[in-house]
Amino acid sequence: MTQDSDAGRAALGEWLRYLGEIGVRELRIAAIPDKSASRATMEPVTANPSPSAAVEQPVPATGRSNVTLVNAIAVGPADRLRQVRADLGECTRCKLHRGRSKIVFGVGNPLAHLMFVGEGPGAEEDLRGEPFVGRAGKKLDDMIGAIGLKRADVYIANVVKCRPPNNRDPDVDEIAACSPFLLEQIAAIRPRVIVTLGAPATRTLLQTSIGITKLRGVWQSFRGIPVMPTFHPAYLLRAYTKENRALVWDDLKAAKARTEEVP
Ligand code: URA
Repeated sequence: MTQDSDAGRAALGEWLRYLGEIGVRELRIAAIPDKSASRATMEPVTANPSPSAAVEQPVPATGRSNVTLVNAIAVGPADRLRQVRADLGECTRCKLHRGRSKIVFGVGNPLAHLMFVGEGPGAEEDLRGEPFVGRAGKKLDDMIGAIGLKRADVYIANVVKCRPPNNRDPDVDEIAACSPFLLEQIAAIRPRVIVTLGAPATRTLLQTSIGITKLRGVWQSFRGIPVMPTFHPAYLLRAYTKENRALVWDDLKAAKARTEEVP
């Protein structure tokens, strides 16, 4: 191996480490041919059809010998979230779309270490297009503040993105239609810890029928990500006892501490 290629490898390693640190987990790569390659022997390839990649480059039709340059485009969590939102579109996949004002996709830091998952938008959220902005949202903000974070530090999403009528629990078919988008959001952000708020979010993510009272406070796992189930802030408002407040406080402290553990 030459000194040049050693140095090239070291520089590439350093660059990849840097991208990892800033949250990039995917690279889309297109080969750019040597200028000496004849136009007649080239055919266009689309390395990636995503608009965020924008890498349509000609490469030689035969062999790889003329390829001298690689054009790599870093795709970070924010790009991936934008793509998930674009895929969701003006969704009509389930009956909830009929009564909605706005889709409530999710909000927060795409690089968040901590992610909260609720069940579905209420009246205020439906009007504003943002999760947890009503009474339960104020309580969630207090809970986030109590562990020394701001709303903008975390990411907040729901199992269903449109408001169920009269704030009922989402139906099985609605969860089936919408939850793939939540899973894509989780895959994009890859938080260190997820806190599920209440029974529907916990059931959906963990695919369990065990009740929230049993699961709350007990570490679970979703695709390798630690999950802390806790009470929904709306429940906390209804049952505002010292004991419930202490339980949720313990859960959030444990969740925050886990985000700070060295991976
Ligand atoms: N309850 C939820 O589960 N999600 C919201 O966005 C608001 C209230």
